[in-house]
Amino acid sequence: MIDNLHKWLILRLMLVWFVLSLVIGGVVHYLGNVHLDNHVVNMAKTETVNYKDMVVSYLKSPSEQKLLELNSRIKNQIEKDNLIAVEFYDAKSSKITEAVKPSSREVEEELPKHGSEFSDKDGIICTKLLLGSDTYMRLFVPLFNSTGIKIGYLEGIYHAPSEIIAQIKQQTFWSLLLVVLIILVTSLALYPIIIRLNRTLIDYSNNLALTNIGMLKVLGSAIAKRDSDTNIHNYRVTLYSVRIGEELGLSRTAMQGLIKGSFLHDLGKIAIGDAILHKPGKLTDEEFTIMKSHVRHGEDIISGYDWLKDAQDVVLCHHEKFDGSGYPAGMTQEDIPLNARIFAVADVFDALTSKRPYKEAFSFEVAVKILQDSLGSHFDPEVAQFFLGHAAAMHGEICNEDEALLHVKLESYIRKYF
Ligand SMILES: [Fe+2]
Repeated sequence: MIDNLHKWLILRLMLVWFVLSLVIGGVVHYLGNVHLDNHVVNMAKTETVNYKDMVVSYLKSPSEQKLLELNSRIKNQIEKDNLIAVEFYDAKSSKITEAVKPSSREVEEELPKHGSEFSDKDGIICTKLLLGSDTYMRLFVPLFNSTGIKIGYLEGIYHAPSEIIAQIKQQTFWSLLLVVLIILVTSLALYPIIIRLNRTLIDYSNNLALTNIGMLKVLGSAIAKRDSDTNIHNYRVTLYSVRIGEELGLSRTAMQGLIKGSFLHDLGKIAIGDAILHKPGKLTDEEFTIMKSHVRHGEDIISGYDWLKDAQDVVLCHHEKFDGSGYPAGMTQEDIPLNARIFAVADVFDALTSKRPYKEAFSFEVAVKILQDSLGSHFDPEVAQFFLGHAAAMHGEICNEDEALLHVKLESYIRKYF
């Protein structure tokens, strides 16, 4: 169980690490790309705006001479820049002039016409273009005169230096790696904390179970004191029942209900008056009717406590008989809960083989004969056959054992199933 917990926890922490790495890594990657784009746009804007004054000056008073001067200046300037081309337009979108870096002429022609487009607060429209592993930025910069009237625009194509791109991508990669490592370390740090918390919870749970079992013993002892002055009947019937339950392969949960039910089966006798409960002679019909009500009283008592509700099958139905002649409901066959059918065999076998104020103990052989004669009438034949197959060993081990040793045996089953 502990190994499963470790495996379960490791798998989930790794899953959390993977999902968080994917989500936060995706965000870091996105922000890295935004940072890269912003950096390229800023560099492109810085270089493109250098041409702004030249063309604004020309547009204010255009002439052939000034155009020649403009052409000369932009051709000189573009050789120093990362821009591969600039074009100038007037207010009517007629091209005034252009300059293309000779070494990049072919690239300029191969560039895609469209890319991801966005504009900034100054009205500059930027388009990111990718060609192979290179990044380009096309900018449209509006040009205004001193009164704020648009007099033209310039278009520049900027080639982002590959070393800058590589540097920013490397920064993004290291940021991603750092994020993934931080999440991994955090997940690993959580592991011992969760294990510790889980152990604490298990301790609390065990303490609670021990408290409940203590209460179970107190109640069982109270019934015994009321009925026969000793716990030993409770111990024996519980041990017989557990052994049959194990032979039948009952689940752990069913075994818990069987143990609780066996221990508390006659809890309802607390509500039966002494005159009837301790009457030495035979009960009248009226008295027997009252005595039979102990199963309903038992059910009432345990129904108020969730932890005892799985004992209800035995407490309420332990006097039902396989042929429907039992009480309180006259259930038949498989309608009687399995735990109650198991307990009925154990209870009657112990009653037969025990000494009571009104009778001596029957021998093992007589008790077995009575059980065999009652297969299919009082007892579920399958359950009773399972019991009878092991009855000799169980009888030898349990029937004449003293109370202290039976208590030790019962404790070992409680530890096993609770
Ligand atoms: Fe009973």
